[in-house]
Amino acid sequence: MKQDSLRLKIAPLTSHRSLRNLKKEKPENLGRKEGNLFIAPFVASPLRVVRQMLTLAELKKGEVFYDLGSGDGRTVIMAASEFGARAVGVELREDLAKKALSAIYELGIEDQVTIVQNDLFDVDVSPANVLFLYLTTSANDKVKRKLEKELKPGTRVISHDYEILGWKPLKTSTFCENPRLGYPSHTIYIYRK
Ligand SMILES: C[S@@+](CC[C@H](N)C(=O)[O-])C[C@H]1O[C@@H](n2cnc3c(N)ncnc32)[C@H](O)[C@@H]1O
Repeated sequence: MKQDSLRLKIAPLTSHRSLRNLKKEKPENLGRKEGNLFIAPFVASPLRVVRQMLTLAELKKGEVFYDLGSGDGRTVIMAASEFGARAVGVELREDLAKKALSAIYELGIEDQVTIVQNDLFDVDVSPANVLFLYLTTSANDKVKRKLEKELKPGTRVISHDYEILGWKPLKTSTFCENPRLGYPSHTIYIYRK
């Protein structure tokens, strides 16, 4: 039944790990501290910005895309439906995770997209080829050690509007949603591990 599969799809991380046979990480090794939980509020990236950042990331068919803090699922949905990627969204808020799943099932792309409803610090991101962040500069700073530890060399990391302090971007690109008006403008930071 559809409802049951929705529930299965947002199973806790233990099943996510066991499904993919992922190694166990000690939270203290990943920069996690008490009170880390919600490290950024929900603000959706405009779809045109999402498309631009996936293009700049050169996301290819069959690659694995992660969004840490995936909100309503728009990035993972576009990564799968327009770029042919396998996509994993990690979102702590249950309402947003469920909203994303409804859209994913409606589009029939549930084989390509997984939503993990969990704290991003508890999810192994090592399978990623491209990883997206739209958090804050201080949140990025908390996530940085985890990325340095887990990501494979060559993984592209894209951050919307907030840089990762101490990392040198390959490229910084500005994207204007309405060039005629000259705003709103977005900055996309592209890194490669
Ligand atoms: C600025 S929104 C970005 C949403 C989406 N990535 C986008 O670009 O449209 C940040 C998201 O991160 C989620 N978030 C914050 N802290 C988190 C955590 N520790 N683990 C997982 N998600 C988290 C929030 O609930 C929110 O949906």
